[in-house]
Amino acid sequence: MKKLLLLAFFSFSLSAASLGETLFNGNCVTCHAITSPNSAPAIQEVQHAYKKMFDTKEKFVAFMVNWIAQPNTKTTLMPEAIKKHGLMPSLGYDKETLQEIASYLYDARLSQ
Ligand code: HEC
Repeated sequence: MKKLLLLAFFSFSLSAASLGETLFNGNCVTCHAITSPNSAPAIQEVQHAYKKMFDTKEKFVAFMVNWIAQPNTKTTLMPEAIKKHGLMPSLGYDKETLQEIASYLYDARLSQ
C-alpha cells in the first residue's frame, strides 16, 4: 500500500512538471528564449532575477503569477528589461495555468 501511494505521488509530480514545461513552450518561448534574449529577456535571466528576490518557491510563484496576470511597470523586478523591450503584454491566462508555468520555472534547470 505504501509503495502504491509513493508511486502515485511520483507520477503526479512528474506529470505536473511536464505540464508546466509544455505550457511554457506553447505560450512563452516565442518571446522568451531559454538562454539568449531576443524580443524579450531570456527566461534564464528572468528566473535569476526572481530567485534573487524570493527565497521560497511559494513567494516566487505567487509574485510571478500575479505579475504576469497584470504586467506592471511599478512592481517589475526587471526595470532594465522594460526599458529595452517595452512592458510585457497582458496575455489573459488564468491563474491555474500561470501557476503551473511559474512552478516549472522555479524548478527548471535552464541551460540550453
Ligand atoms: C509577446 C511577447 C511575450 C510573451 C508571449 C511572454 N512574454 Fe514575458 N516578457 C516579455 C517582455 C518584453 C518582458 C520584459 C519587459 C517586462 O519585464 O515587462 C517580459 C518579462 C517577463 C517577466 C519578468 C517580469 C518583471 O518582473 O518585469 C516574466 C516573469 C515573464 N515575462 C514571464 C512570462 C511567461 C511565464 C510567459 C508565458 C505565459 C511570458 N512571459 C510570455 C514578453 C513576452
